[in-house]
Amino acid sequence: MDAFLIKGPVRLAGTVRASGAKNAALPALAAALLTADPVTLDEVPDLADVNTMNRLLAGMGVSIDRPAPGRVVLGASRVTSTEAPYDLVRTMRASILVLGPLVARFGEARVSLPGGCAIGVRPVDLHLLALEAMGARIAVEKGYIHAHVSRVGRGTGRLTGAAIRFPSPTVTGTENVLFAAALAKGTTVIENAAREPEVEDTARLLTAMGARVTGAGTPTITVEGVDRLSGTGQMPHAIVPDRIEAGTYLAAGAITGGDVTVTGARARDLGAFLDALSRAGAGVEVTADSVRVHGGRPLVAVDIETAPHPGFPTDLQAQFLALMTQAEGTSRLIETIFENRFLHAVELARLGADVRVDGRAAVVRGPSSLEGAPVTASDLRASAALVLAGLVARGETRVRRIYHLDRGYAAMDERLRSLGASVERIDG
Ligand code: UD1
Repeated sequence: MDAFLIKGPVRLAGTVRASGAKNAALPALAAALLTADPVTLDEVPDLADVNTMNRLLAGMGVSIDRPAPGRVVLGASRVTSTEAPYDLVRTMRASILVLGPLVARFGEARVSLPGGCAIGVRPVDLHLLALEAMGARIAVEKGYIHAHVSRVGRGTGRLTGAAIRFPSPTVTGTENVLFAAALAKGTTVIENAAREPEVEDTARLLTAMGARVTGAGTPTITVEGVDRLSGTGQMPHAIVPDRIEAGTYLAAGAITGGDVTVTGARARDLGAFLDALSRAGAGVEVTADSVRVHGGRPLVAVDIETAPHPGFPTDLQAQFLALMTQAEGTSRLIETIFENRFLHAVELARLGADVRVDGRAAVVRGPSSLEGAPVTASDLRASAALVLAGLVARGETRVRRIYHLDRGYAAMDERLRSLGASVERIDG
């Protein structure tokens, strides 16, 4: 199993380019199921999760070509199966994103129920309730979600537009409803919709395919269903830049007291995070298509609370916690999205961090002088936090189970090396 061997401390300096967002690429790939025409995507990141989604789609008969780096052309004219098997779904919860498209176009789907994951229970009940409200009959049997829309006359059954109000915003839930509503009969209004940039990007792709969507990026999205969607035609859809990857490299710049620029990053998608970075004392400079973080020693403690977009993203909480181990004073981080998302705290403590977790809050006292040690990654963003800490820890830090990191960061070792870090991918 791959591990990262990091030698610290180091001061990072240089420029990296933001990749396309994992969380926008996954729904965009799933969206190809909605049409028989080719869908061409650009800026698709080279990630384990993207490969998993491609395998899932290929298993359904979708053709997948990669004519150039970052470009994927999908063709779902001959879908032979509407099933998402357990073996793939268990490795990636976002597999649930095929549910909406399958039910919308074929009137049926059989999708393995995603299991729990390290960071919490993460149910999909809101996805299922919404599809039921749109006329799907849902049964959960033997670990699989069976969704079915009754036929009226000939042809496949068709969903009906409905008023959906999420009790709390769900990102992939909102995307599944967008897919379902795009081909439903009538109008769907989603209230308390997720406002993440990746939801907006999904709506942008659907619009390019002929869907009628308004309000994406706001809490109320309206979709007028159409009879059929087309492909992307002459204009490939370019995936929005990954704000979480960008934020991670900016945090790497800040924690090492370095000078890191991420080109292609959109500051407007990173508002709450950049605000916290500057309150912590890092210099933040924004241009139209880049964000730079520099200097900022000594850092000072800052409190944050995760929240749905535009709040502080839960996907940057672990990285920010790592940063706070180097800040002067006591910071309190509150996690409101997932119930068990402080697994990195124990591992950071192994490096010498002073972190106490109490339910949904983590209290970090800094600055700590970290010492390299073997640590084990537990989930994607926790792995990133351990890598950040390894950059400032004195001596060798071995981060094991780096496959978690490969799910969401393309070539992180190479990119960190390009900024001056000593990071090797080793077997261990
Ligand atoms: C997406 C992101 C993930 C990010 C998360 C929160 C993708 C592929 N993944 O995950 O990186 O950490 O948003 O920003 O985009 N919930 C329910 N029932 C449901 C659905 C969700 O109770 O049916 C709860 C979840 O347990 C969680 C909260 O709602 O507490 C938000 O989760 P959600 O936005 O759905 O996360 P994902 O879409 O799975």
